[in-house]
Amino acid sequence: MGGRGATGSAVEQAAPSHELSFPFNHRWGMKLWRAVLIRTPRTGAIDGKSLAWNRGRELVRGAAHCGACHTPRNLAVARLIGAAFAGNEDLPGGDKAPSIQPGDLKARGWTVENLAFALRTGVMPDGDAFGGSMGELV
Ligand code: HEC
Repeated sequence: MGGRGATGSAVEQAAPSHELSFPFNHRWGMKLWRAVLIRTPRTGAIDGKSLAWNRGRELVRGAAHCGACHTPRNLAVARLIGAAFAGNEDLPGGDKAPSIQPGDLKARGWTVENLAFALRTGVMPDGDAFGGSMGELV
């Protein structure tokens, strides 16, 4: 009754050692990368824009971090600011996120209504579902 059988007893075994090779075995590298490249997203309201527009800006840049996948990155894995939301062909796992810049979305038939519907349901205007990490995100 509640006794610790063979499977419940502790095992005496040293933890395996870390096996990261240079430069990843140096934590300062990560600190430096962060200090140089990580920026807090600017989500503050822009004067003269509507409440809905500013709410969208806050969601896209902040909470939903759409740019994390839809903005291409340079060799240092930093996002290319000048190409915000221009798409990223090199996502981990082989995913590709297309451009979601307004002109490109319009050209592919997206409207405010069908995009809102797709983000709520995962169903795109052509009846297909978002694939890859976008499907998981929704
Ligand atoms: C985790 C990565 C990731 C994030 C974060 C992300 N997306 Fe995506 N998105 C993708 C991928 C990958 C695809 C391609 C999906 C496919 O091939 O079916 C995609 C596809 C899309 C498409 C379809 C484009 C088209 O014409 O086919 C839209 C629109 C879109 N994303 C909008 C957004 C918005 C808006 C956000 C933020 C709310 C966002 N995504 C955040 C990865 C992401």
